[in-house]
Amino acid sequence: MKLSKRLQAIYDMVPTGVAADVGSDHGKLIISLFQNGVITKGYAIENKKGPFSRLEKAIQEAGVADNVIPMLSDGISELPSDVDTVIIAGMGGFNIVEILKAHPQKLKNVRTIIVDAHNAIPELRKQVCKMGYIIADEDIVNDAGKYYEIIKFITGECAYLDDPDYEFGPVLRSEKSLTFKAKYKTRIEEIDNLLSKEKLSPERIATLNNEKERIIKVL
Ligand SMILES: C[S@@+](CC[C@H](N)C(=O)[O-])C[C@H]1O[C@@H](n2cnc3c(N)ncnc32)[C@H](O)[C@@H]1O
Repeated sequence: MKLSKRLQAIYDMVPTGVAADVGSDHGKLIISLFQNGVITKGYAIENKKGPFSRLEKAIQEAGVADNVIPMLSDGISELPSDVDTVIIAGMGGFNIVEILKAHPQKLKNVRTIIVDAHNAIPELRKQVCKMGYIIADEDIVNDAGKYYEIIKFITGECAYLDDPDYEFGPVLRSEKSLTFKAKYKTRIEEIDNLLSKEKLSPERIATLNNEKERIIKVL
């Protein structure tokens, strides 16, 4: 099964063991992880009936139903105790934090958390670090014209991170890949465009100029 660039970037960060994909939807990621021997068992968790039926069908059709178990449940509320990696992708950052914080005891055996959020990424980094994880790896990809940041947390003593680490990612801002530079060059162009064309309040102008300065410092 061919994965999108975004799902492949997540796949590449998954360690061997037992993984749960929360908000699994089509199930492509967890099915591929099992079929290629990256994981020995997987749980595909969905909280909505429509996507859950699709998921069950995809697992059956792939012939992996003995080892990829579909679960109709909310977030990690019923996370099995043999799970050592939790993946939560394709959701808002606040939703991901809410899912993780709702049942902290369920994370007792979870050594790795991999996330891909559409927004609130600085807050997500901060909150997951507060939960006893450190950022072990990050990746940024441009998939069909959209940028996605993938973050891999592992258990560890909370490392010191400053505001630019939370905003831009400690690994991403040190690696400064071509994709990272392209994302923020595009953002500077958007800011310049807004500042030149729109009638903005002085507060909004100051906010945009501050953001631009922070980006320039990091690039
Ligand atoms: C946009 S899809 C992303 C699918 C896949 N993870 C990906 O990245 O391609 C988000 C999925 O998460 C599910 N979802 C949202 N909140 C959830 C929760 N609290 N528990 C389980 N599933 C959830 C939605 O029903 C939806 O199928």
